[in-house]
Amino acid sequence: MNGKFPQHFLWGGAVAANQVEGAYQADGKGLSTSDLQPQGIFGAITPRMPGDSGIKDVAIDFYHRYPEDIALFAEMGFKCLRTSIAWTRIFPQGDEETPNEAGLAFYDRLFDEMAKYGIQPLITLSHYEMPYGLVKNYGGWGDRRTIAFFERYARTVFERYKHKVKHWLTFNEINMSLHAPFTGVGLPPESDRSAIYQAIHHQLVASAKAVKACHEIVPEGKIGNMLLGGILYPLSCRPEDLLETQRQNRDWLFFGDVQARGYYPAYMQRFFRENGIQVEITNEDRQTLRETIDFISFSYYMSGCVTADPEQYETARGNILDMVPNPHLASSEWGWQIDPIGLRYLLNVLYDRYQKPLFIVENGLGAKDRVEADGSINDDYRINYLNDHLVQVAEAIDDGVEVMGYTSWGPIDLVSASKAEMSKRYGFIHVDRDDVGNGSLERRRKKSFYWYRDVIHSNGASLKDRR
Ligand code: BG6
Repeated sequence: MNGKFPQHFLWGGAVAANQVEGAYQADGKGLSTSDLQPQGIFGAITPRMPGDSGIKDVAIDFYHRYPEDIALFAEMGFKCLRTSIAWTRIFPQGDEETPNEAGLAFYDRLFDEMAKYGIQPLITLSHYEMPYGLVKNYGGWGDRRTIAFFERYARTVFERYKHKVKHWLTFNEINMSLHAPFTGVGLPPESDRSAIYQAIHHQLVASAKAVKACHEIVPEGKIGNMLLGGILYPLSCRPEDLLETQRQNRDWLFFGDVQARGYYPAYMQRFFRENGIQVEITNEDRQTLRETIDFISFSYYMSGCVTADPEQYETARGNILDMVPNPHLASSEWGWQIDPIGLRYLLNVLYDRYQKPLFIVENGLGAKDRVEADGSINDDYRINYLNDHLVQVAEAIDDGVEVMGYTSWGPIDLVSASKAEMSKRYGFIHVDRDDVGNGSLERRRKKSFYWYRDVIHSNGASLKDRR
């Protein structure tokens, strides 16, 4: 794989505030939607009572241990670390006029620590959480006023960190709101499609406002969107399967189309019309949407298949999307189908469609690890997964796709998003904590730690084509 990765390729890892920081009420932080789902995205929404606890309340205690963790990332040679800002540290209820200084100061310390090692931050404004105050008092993204609250938050952090953070993302996996409306847009799970698309519309407008603000405030700032790259293949070459696959891929590509092109694609008009979906879109909204992103970012874990035949339709154990299993692919312990070539395919699809630089901001294998008697963790399965995906990234770069960087998901073990598990580990660094919170939180390097260090140091030359 010599020479395929560009010289300034941003190698690194990605985490999210609510899955690593803990300290869920420290220094004035308000409750977020994530705090109300202690069992994860697919768990119940529970009011937090005094004395209640959940695994995310401490998570891996990154809030206090970040200097040790950043030093470990630096040891691997990270050029970039993706994390998110917890909106509720800055605006605890969401609708305050002035920000919480203690929350702002935390991220100053974090970014300064990264700067010591030359690690560039890539910052998501909203990763699977928003202030619960905005849900309770306004109805989340269902209410147009949330756009202005988000814009105030975005402008506040752009002003504060404009000399420290040059790469930004708006909403994590913005397309997942269709599948998990509480996490995505702060709506009850049983909301109808008109309500969900209206909330999504408000979020798309807010995203465009953040893009504008970033361009105004952050010198040389670049801002991208973030899609759950759920690429789907037809299960067969029947034309009906192909058409259904195109339709379902458009369910998520729609978000990228609006954010990258600046307007709603025509196919959505028909979709709204035929499904009786009403969305209020003002002329001012149309104008705002014209402010488009600088690059496309996405997560990629697996691919899936589509059939137009209801009899063949069975549900694969995907995370958020329902997909038909691909008979040619193996699966992870969590039933996610492993498809490195799909990453090359997806990179080409997105580049053909948008002609904008791409950033792979999540990819990785959630697996159970075993700590051996001598303390080592031999995670060859993770090395193989990541190696094979990166080989395909190199191929896509050779195809001519412009790839800015690659941040593997969970470079340090963290709490999983879907079910709030610690045992679903993605890290190069092991954290001693189990699913119910036992453990010392001690950090330990896995075999993959040294493997990734070599990949970064060799700029990809150490990758092996195992096909
Ligand atoms: C993505 C999310 O959907 O997948 C992350 O952006 C999440 O927040 C990741 O952690 C993996 O999912 P899980 O459920 O294994 O944590």
